[in-house]
Amino acid sequence: MAAASRGGGFIRAVRIDVPATAASQWPFTIPSIASFGRRSFDPAVTYLVGENGSGKSTLVEALAVAVGLNAEGGTRNMGFSTADSHTALTKHLVVERRGRPRTDFFLRAESFFNVASHIDRLDEDPLGGPKIREAYGGQSLHTRSHGESFIATLTHRLGPGGLYFLDEPESALSFHGCLTLLRVINDLTREGSQFVIATHSPIVLASPGALIYSLDEDGIKTTHYDEAPPVINNREFLRSPERFLRHLFADD
Ligand SMILES: Nc1ncnc2c1ncn2[C@@H]1O[C@H](COP(=O)(O)OP(=O)(O)OP(=O)(O)O)[C@@H](O)[C@H]1O
Ligand SMILES: [Mg+2]
Repeated sequence: MAAASRGGGFIRAVRIDVPATAASQWPFTIPSIASFGRRSFDPAVTYLVGENGSGKSTLVEALAVAVGLNAEGGTRNMGFSTADSHTALTKHLVVERRGRPRTDFFLRAESFFNVASHIDRLDEDPLGGPKIREAYGGQSLHTRSHGESFIATLTHRLGPGGLYFLDEPESALSFHGCLTLLRVINDLTREGSQFVIATHSPIVLASPGALIYSLDEDGIKTTHYDEAPPVINNREFLRSPERFLRHLFADD
């Protein structure tokens, strides 16, 4: 399928204008943020990969907030905040947009628990109208396992023509859960949705034809699936775990 017919292309490109007065302050000290410049986004799926602390969540959160979503995840109507970790980056992010998604959602693994609690609180209100949990499979997300709550959200809450930000969705998902996510991504991008995904998982990263950005201490660059660090590292490890363990435990 031609690239132009995949995905919604709601975010065409993103530019970060590093303010001269704040260049020495976080988050502009993160190499991937400092050297971001202007980057195209795939109309269907754009991935961010990189080591812990390379700036993936900082970028995904700033992007999600820039398009009107809640910094801790969830929908644009979820205005709760349990920690004031909101980044200064959003103000300096220019998002080149086209069209309006029918719906949007930010699945942020590290604070998904708070989203589930927020939905339960809203659903306890006797004057609250239709239960929000109906959009998440009809059951409180707290009464499902960690992975089940992610899968319920992915399969019920996400839909065609949407714009979705996922930050480490694999943190709750088994191998088969990751395959379910790939299937959801495939179905929804064929139906005009766009995804921006930060991941460490070579399985989650396997959506065909996607744009992959690799973030590291030198900055940010595009890469291919077979050259992406999560793929190379996991392949190497599985090829010979004993070699890694020998080095790791060399001092024991
Ligand atoms: N509120 C904050 N104030 C100052 N520094 C922060 C703040 N939040 C994150 N950082 C730092 O910014 C850098 C990038 O963090 P970020 O959370 O974006 O990394 P990441 O690529 O998502 O890592 P991971 O794979 O561990 O989730 C890290 O060095 C982190 O310590
Ligand atoms: Mg992160």
